[in-house]
Amino acid sequence: MSNLPASMTAIGLPTPGGPEALVPEQRPVPRPGPGEILVKVAAAGVNRPDVMQRKGFYPPPPGASDIPGLEIAGEVVALGEGATGWTLGDKVCALVSGGGYAEYCLADAASALPVPAGLSLLEAAALPETFFTVWTNVFDLAGLKAGENFLVHGGTSGIGTTAIQLAKAFGARVFATAGSAAKCDVCRDLGADVAIDYKTEDFVAVIKEKTGGKGVNVILDMVGGSYIPRNYEAASPQGRIVQIAFMDGSKVQMDFIRLMLKRLSHMGSTLRSRPKAEKAAIAASLREKVWPLIEAGTVKPVLDRSFPLAQASAAHALMETSAHIGKIMLKVD
Ligand SMILES: NC(=O)c1ccc[n+]([C@@H]2O[C@H](COP(=O)([O-])OP(=O)(O)OC[C@H]3O[C@@H](n4cnc5c(N)ncnc54)[C@H](OP(=O)(O)O)[C@@H]3O)[C@@H](O)[C@H]2O)c1
Repeated sequence: MSNLPASMTAIGLPTPGGPEALVPEQRPVPRPGPGEILVKVAAAGVNRPDVMQRKGFYPPPPGASDIPGLEIAGEVVALGEGATGWTLGDKVCALVSGGGYAEYCLADAASALPVPAGLSLLEAAALPETFFTVWTNVFDLAGLKAGENFLVHGGTSGIGTTAIQLAKAFGARVFATAGSAAKCDVCRDLGADVAIDYKTEDFVAVIKEKTGGKGVNVILDMVGGSYIPRNYEAASPQGRIVQIAFMDGSKVQMDFIRLMLKRLSHMGSTLRSRPKAEKAAIAASLREKVWPLIEAGTVKPVLDRSFPLAQASAAHALMETSAHIGKIMLKVD
């Protein structure tokens, strides 16, 4: 570790606020603790939860870095005591609980994965946050099976582009909503069987028509608000609905009768605060079941555009327009 610099450039967040609240700062290069690796970051993903953190609504969990950034890719440059599975020089991507917007970042060794063959470090940095989230919610929690109908809202979000491809790859019939005809075209290109422009079409009516009245077995929802009662209508009997965000609000007055009559399950989760062992288990499942699909080219990260680290504020401003398709990235070296 003696050849590591003492300080690095990172994006600080001295006070919550608009995109301009993100400012480059000098910080000490962190040293890995037990079970951790230190990664020289080549690229980091920008995710909507980072926007929530910047606004002051999603504080880092206890023990996590206050520097934003939940996913990185780069080279392993130091190993903490008992960090197994990696050697210096390995190229990895990793889910991290913070600290990604920086030249160096700590990761739990068990939440890191090898860069899939054929992917650049920039592409690999786009994988962890959305692949961990989609895997644990759609497959582990909701138990999506081949042949079932699956709906994801926000089909061109980072999460949506991942969910469409994974659900399709595992044999589901995929429905996706998005906010324009052009975004719907992207959803279909990624494998959606039915893409619904929610600004001109009623997703409940389209789903009822396309499923012969059966509805969808699994819904991945990041919108909430007015979508909650409509999801209950669009779901099939014994449908499973997983809530991963409430972009349209988390307070709603509604009639819950369909929850009972259709025997629905309505679940939710957040990834960041989950115990290390649970994240390690998700990483192991991804490595076994999804990494081969990425290496075969069946599933790929969808990148919108990338910004230099120092322009993290511009990356956040773009994300808030919702004009992007797929992932917004930061290039660090
Ligand atoms: N629970 C978890 O563990 C977890 C983990 C990661 C992410 N998330 C959540 O998942 C969601 C997607 O994350 P991401 O990083 O993939 O986001 P993203 O790429 O910024 O995509 C969000 C998309 O949602 C659509 N949208 C629909 N209703 C919206 C509304 N009321 N306000 C703003 N956008 C709306 C927009 O596209 P249209 O033009 O189609 O409307 C927008 O592009 C976020 O809410 C994030 O917080 C949750």
